[in-house]
Amino acid sequence: MPHASINAERLLARIHELGAIGRDDRGQLTRLAASDSEKLGRDLLVHWLKAVGLDVAVDRIGNIFGIWQSEENAEQLPLMLGSHVDTVINAGIYDGCYGVLAGLEVIETLKEQGVTPARPIVVAAFTNEEGVRYAPEMLGSLVHVGGLDIEAALATVGTDGTTLGSELTRIGYAGTVEPCALTPHAYVELHIEQGPVLEREATTIGAVENLQGISWQRVTIEGVANHAGTTPMAMRSDAGLAAARVGLFLRDHIARSNAPSVATIGTMRFEPDAINVIPSRAVFTVDLRDPDEERLQALENALDAQLRVIMAEEGVTVTVERLARFEPVTFDRAIVEMIEVSASARGFKSRRMTSGAGHDAQMIARIAPAAMIFVPSRDGISHNPREHTDPADLVAGANVLLDVVSRIAGG
Ligand code: GLV
Ligand code: MN
Ligand code: MN
Ligand code: MN
Repeated sequence: MPHASINAERLLARIHELGAIGRDDRGQLTRLAASDSEKLGRDLLVHWLKAVGLDVAVDRIGNIFGIWQSEENAEQLPLMLGSHVDTVINAGIYDGCYGVLAGLEVIETLKEQGVTPARPIVVAAFTNEEGVRYAPEMLGSLVHVGGLDIEAALATVGTDGTTLGSELTRIGYAGTVEPCALTPHAYVELHIEQGPVLEREATTIGAVENLQGISWQRVTIEGVANHAGTTPMAMRSDAGLAAARVGLFLRDHIARSNAPSVATIGTMRFEPDAINVIPSRAVFTVDLRDPDEERLQALENALDAQLRVIMAEEGVTVTVERLARFEPVTFDRAIVEMIEVSASARGFKSRRMTSGAGHDAQMIARIAPAAMIFVPSRDGISHNPREHTDPADLVAGANVLLDVVSRIAGG
């Protein structure tokens, strides 16, 4: 039986049009959550949702929902698709947007075919998935599942001193719908892999069965500012050196433990930040991940112990603030199997895999059966303007999504 397929040109054109929004003078794409540039991306998405005839709802944390329902299916829980349209700094065009726009494309395709689904289908764009401006990441979907109080979420202070609530109001996306109003029957998120596995194995579709745990912390080390030329090495309280030791420790510890854990120090700031002054303060973030909860806890404990050693040996004080902590998630087996069956029916090679990145699906999995579909990322690169996926793979993933949606929502 021939398969109906999504409109490839339309999907690819929308991905590129949204990807052109939020470019700075140097052409770099940055749409941080609730910023002016993200507002423009949101506006374009809402324009498309309305053009396709969907009802648009925005909740109090700024999550955008495009809802397709009819009188016959309005009583049923919706099938939800989606991802996010915020980006990291100097981002690629596919992370997040692909899942949202493919969700929209699937709905538009089904509408064009005259399908009346057995349940509503909703495409969601969740606020602040990336967590670059406001921590924790996946904040909008976390609020959606009741994992974070709405008032606390709105009061979150960003890296630029703004609060998320005031910024959402400023850009016109502090909606009125109470979070959690839309409990899905199931959730499926299509995303680029952002890693090298599918490409290396010449496999088109990843059926994502689990997602690793994430631990985010901000570490502040206080030393003593002093003259870089006159202070003997043994007489320093060097916050910068102490911070550097943390990064080296994490790399060596993981190598010794032979675990799949990963650790990243993605931001670091020194004070006073001068070439000839010993740093009095270092503030940096630590991102730890592992698919196994016990191993992730062991890594957190090893870091704590090492910070105490560094404090004693370097004559500095250390304080740690927890920014995010999410346990590993197992996705719904039935949906994972549907993804495999759908891929194989279209002749695509698939494999099961673990997501190394955090995604809104891991939050929604708390309240509904959820799973993810991955497509290959060239050279495994993401969070980088070189992020790229072959258009044929983008289309393949969207068609698998279409088939999974048809299986779940029927018609
Ligand atoms: C976001 O993409 C993350 O995995 O941190
Ligand atoms: Mn993403
Ligand atoms: Mn991302
Ligand atoms: Mn992510």
